[in-house]
Amino acid sequence: MKQQYSISSISVFLLFLHYTNTFAQSPAAAPAQAPAVVVAQPPAATPTQAAAPHGITNVTKILEKAGHFTIFIRLLRSTQEENHLFSALNDSSSGLTIFAPTDSAFSELKSGTLNTLSDGDKSELVKFHVVPTFLSTSQFQTVSNPLGTWAGTGSRLPLNVTSYPNSVNITTGLTNTSLSGTVYTDNQLAIYKIEKVLLPKDIFASKAPAPAPVAPAPEKPTKAVPAANVESPVAPVDISGAVMFTRNNVVGSVGIVAAAIFAL
Ligand SMILES: *[C@@H]1O[C@H](CO)[C@@H](O)[C@H](O)[C@H]1NC(C)=O
Ligand SMILES: *[C@@H]1O[C@H](CO)[C@@H](O)[C@H](O)[C@H]1NC(C)=O
Ligand SMILES: *[C@@H]1O[C@H](CO)[C@@H](O)[C@H](O)[C@H]1NC(C)=O
Ligand SMILES: *[C@@H]1O[C@H](CO)[C@@H](O)[C@H](O)[C@H]1NC(C)=O
Ligand SMILES: *[C@@H]1O[C@H](CO)[C@@H](O)[C@H](O)[C@H]1NC(C)=O
Repeated sequence: MKQQYSISSISVFLLFLHYTNTFAQSPAAAPAQAPAVVVAQPPAATPTQAAAPHGITNVTKILEKAGHFTIFIRLLRSTQEENHLFSALNDSSSGLTIFAPTDSAFSELKSGTLNTLSDGDKSELVKFHVVPTFLSTSQFQTVSNPLGTWAGTGSRLPLNVTSYPNSVNITTGLTNTSLSGTVYTDNQLAIYKIEKVLLPKDIFASKAPAPAPVAPAPEKPTKAVPAANVESPVAPVDISGAVMFTRNNVVGSVGIVAAAIFAL
């Protein structure tokens, strides 16, 4: 053990000498101190660390380092979308854009929202936050709406962005928010921070009638009322989508959400 240690110390020292000779730029005081500092690291660490990521950007690691994304990270893991992102970043030439909701964004959801979702819906929710192209902030000015996401396209999955001089706003029809910061960007991957979870109509408006500019239901049905409303003609129509959450409320889930928040 001891011998191995000195051999590696010596080789690191020789390496150090090699570098000082090659570049001839080392500060005058360095030779006495530098080898000790270098030896303090396990010699094998550098090659191993370099090999592990295969040069592929690790989204989870970026989010962990940035902090305040623990719930989003947990969802990425539980839905396996973490692996999907990893292989997409290896394969994709067009890159990715991720809208990452903060923990406080998740805490603003009605209690039980996540827990009442099926595994499929959880995957869809995560995928709805991933756009399969790299978009820099300036590209939001020219992008055409609606954006396609990993969750798909179509009238039940709109995701629109609008660029203003001081903000980039996003709407899903149920959620309005704006980008609140750039977590990460290179020329392949952009991760933007958002303060609200983007709720796709496909999941969260499934039990509500199609949003219509008709405010309260009229006392007696008229020709203007869409056919879809016939079964519950008198019930007030809440187009905000908030009503569904209270219907789906599950007592046990409150504790789980609370636990998730305390875990921060
Ligand atoms: C990405 O980083 C996370 C967190 O540091 C780690 O748990 C995961 O194993 C990494 N994934 C890969 C494929 O290296
Ligand atoms: C990345 O892509 C290359 C070429 O398609 C493939 O050989 C390699 O296994 C991939 N690496 C990972 C970690 O998926
Ligand atoms: C998104 O943009 C498209 C095209 O401009 C528009 O037709 C649609 O109504 C918009 N959806 C929302 C939810 O803003
Ligand atoms: C989102 O913004 C639009 C336009 O400003 C507004 O009409 C709509 O009511 C907002 N929706 C929500 C859910 O806040
Ligand atoms: C953009 O979104 C922010 C909140 O995220 C809101 O305050 C602002 O009014 C929105 N701008 C427009 C033009 O809708």
